[in-house]
Amino acid sequence: MANKIPRPAPVSGDMEWFLNDRFGMFIHWGLYSLPARHEWVQNKEQISNEDYQKYFDHFNPDLYDPEEWAAMAADAGMKYVVLTTKHHEGFCLWDSKYTDFKSTKTPYGKDLLHPFVDAFRAEGLRIGFYHSLIDWNHPNFPIDDLHPLRDHEDREELNKTRDVAKYREYLHNQTRELLTEFGKIDILWYDFSYPSSTDEKTGKQFVGKGRDDWGSVELLKMVRELQPGIIVNNRLNLPDEEADIHTPEQVQPSEWVHVDGKPVNWETCQTFSGSWGYHRDEASWKSEEQLVKMLINSVSCGGNLLMNVGPTSRGIFDERAVKALEAYGEWMYLHSRSIYGCTQSEFEAPSGCRFTQNGKKLYLHIYDWPYKYLHMKELSGKIEYAQLLNDGSEVFLREAGKLGGSEHLGGDVDKSLVTLELPVLKPDVTVPVVELFLK
Ligand code: GLC
Repeated sequence: MANKIPRPAPVSGDMEWFLNDRFGMFIHWGLYSLPARHEWVQNKEQISNEDYQKYFDHFNPDLYDPEEWAAMAADAGMKYVVLTTKHHEGFCLWDSKYTDFKSTKTPYGKDLLHPFVDAFRAEGLRIGFYHSLIDWNHPNFPIDDLHPLRDHEDREELNKTRDVAKYREYLHNQTRELLTEFGKIDILWYDFSYPSSTDEKTGKQFVGKGRDDWGSVELLKMVRELQPGIIVNNRLNLPDEEADIHTPEQVQPSEWVHVDGKPVNWETCQTFSGSWGYHRDEASWKSEEQLVKMLINSVSCGGNLLMNVGPTSRGIFDERAVKALEAYGEWMYLHSRSIYGCTQSEFEAPSGCRFTQNGKKLYLHIYDWPYKYLHMKELSGKIEYAQLLNDGSEVFLREAGKLGGSEHLGGDVDKSLVTLELPVLKPDVTVPVVELFLK
């Protein structure tokens, strides 16, 4: 049975380009690229600011060339980018007037963000800023249960001099800088809220931060005033309907994402290897096939994919990331028509396949290449023409269970079938796609 395509309620952000473009690059870059063992290293290893300082003192990405990054993103088929202006460690990639913990004060000595924005815009990509609500470096950020100093014996004493109101002002000031000094910003991707709570079973308290700490209501109001049409994500700890996009992380939704029973605009963010920041020793890099399927799976369920790269401290994408991007580029070169402008289909895909749809064009992504024939029930009599997308070669359509030549199905024949006659040899692409033109 053909099912209806869900329609999320209208939101404040300009969703048109976002829903068309479908595929973006996430970039996590900061001082954590020096230890090269996860962007949460300061938290995980409970490193004090004094001990973390060595990474600041040695930050010198001499090979940084954002034009090269932007070209690689564009070649991979990515249409927008979201860069960490500041991650939880607090280090700022731009010359903020509110802190000295920024790239211009490191041995590198230069602003990283203006050249970045210029380079990606020049490649035609939309610009998004990831901005951490959390800040482990800021002297007024009260130590909570996710802070590197959470187990410090003088935690309470140290917190006496920390004033969250002052941190809040810093957060708002920096947001204003980011949204006024870099031209049009298309996405603001805040990360993240973790409100205080009590475990019902154990009664144990968890001390976190949420909307009141960030001043989320005023913050969002300012963001929307400064950049009308900007897309804001769902991590400010505000009511769900305030968010333009919802952001499942490191999970692959297998159906359209719903919140409180209602369909929402969504984007899943994913990594090549498990870590967001550059991680030298990580081995769990996804295969080319997994990567391409993640993109198809997202669009087939009406979502976007934001795929992350963690540049090294020299300022480049390492070999493994370059290879992964090339895998996307190769596939997208021939198949982007089944991604851009597409969404979940009104039809249910045959087993071992995924559909995406753009109006009267239906894209059949074949994960399990069959032997010669692929039968589809719902679509009998509805297809005008079919071709392989990789080379635009015709695929015969056989209606009502009648096959080519002397071949026959045997047994009872389901007259409601439409059958695609495919080459026995799978085309030499990561995931083959048949483009179906609906009547
Ligand atoms: C998380 C992590 C983080 C990463 C982000 C991406 O919430 O804190 O390191 O930046 O997710 O979604």
